[in-house]
Amino acid sequence: MSTRPVVLVTRGLPDDWLHRLEHTPGGMELVVGPADRPGLDPALEARLPEADGIFSLLTERIDEHVLARAPRLRVVSNMAVGVDNIDVDACTRRGIPVGHTPGVLTEATADLAMALLLAAARGIPSAAEDVRAGRWSSWSPTGWLGADLHGATLGIVGMGAIGRAVARRARGFGLRIVYTSRSGAPEIESELAARRVPLAELFAVADFVSLHVPLSSETHRLVDATLLSRMKPTAILVNTARGPIVDPVALREALERGTIGGAALDVTDPEPLPPDDPLLSAPNLLVVPHIGSATRGTRRRMAELACDNLLAGLRGLPLPHCVNVDALRGA
Ligand code: NAP
Ligand code: GLV
Repeated sequence: MSTRPVVLVTRGLPDDWLHRLEHTPGGMELVVGPADRPGLDPALEARLPEADGIFSLLTERIDEHVLARAPRLRVVSNMAVGVDNIDVDACTRRGIPVGHTPGVLTEATADLAMALLLAAARGIPSAAEDVRAGRWSSWSPTGWLGADLHGATLGIVGMGAIGRAVARRARGFGLRIVYTSRSGAPEIESELAARRVPLAELFAVADFVSLHVPLSSETHRLVDATLLSRMKPTAILVNTARGPIVDPVALREALERGTIGGAALDVTDPEPLPPDDPLLSAPNLLVVPHIGSATRGTRRRMAELACDNLLAGLRGLPLPHCVNVDALRGA
């Protein structure tokens, strides 16, 4: 058995993203999974009994089944802000702190939410497709008509870091902001003239709805047929949070019946969405492959923050960003 700490990195990443681990005094044994295959690789599973740390991606489930096989585990560090792929309660019970990467991905993800909102509002993907298909025969006074952003209302579900970053961008485009939050965001209300409303009212008054809550048992299928039925027939739903927050069958029906104007999704349920998934045949739907944080700078900063969390956990120190601080108290 190795005397250096053993760290499982669930997916292959560029070496320079992991340099903080590779150049740690005393060293560690890094066991790295395949770059392009999600799920815990059998070669990594076999090393669980020796693992001191796990550096996970959102494509790997870290649950009881995994934890039970890793008795030496001292830290789980997720390279994502969302931790819905991890059974955090099970980690807490075992005294294992769980790290995540908030903040560094806020601006990139908010940019993508705005990009999706703009693309869906102005029908950019289908207009671009029309050019390629030779359907641009003239400037058309009635063709390719989209929706105005200025003067319209954006409903933000979850006014956390990304919700706020989207709200600031949206104000620049002349949108009015309504939002939901359990705790409230008074400083955003004064900064951006945002108004906190109940969820059902938000869906009824908004021209655009953008989702920014974490996935949890409370938010699973939060956007269901009832809520979708409250939306204006022209309204557009943007989801850069997590796929299972939206009921995909209800969304397909709303798009097919034209009871909502469109949807733009960075996240889906399931993920990845198979090309023959019935949702993809719905009209006015734009789907991109979970690229909210996918800029070179952001992904590198996420990896570095995940390394910092992991190193702190191996040293028994508080993690810079921990979702279960109680884990160390009980340990
Ligand atoms: P955050 O700062 O923690 O904000 C989330 C907000 O949601 C909180 O401020 C919280 O406010 C609210 N909330 C939490 N639980 C809720 C519930 N049950 N009902 C209603 N509101 C609830 O997190 P963030 O950094 O903005 O990230 C949000 C989520 O975006 C992540 O969890 C992740 O799933 C997703 N994400 C996706 C991508 C991507 O690539 N597409 C990238 C980054 C993040 P209150 O406590 O006041 O309600
Ligand atoms: C991405 O989806 C994240 O949660 O970081």
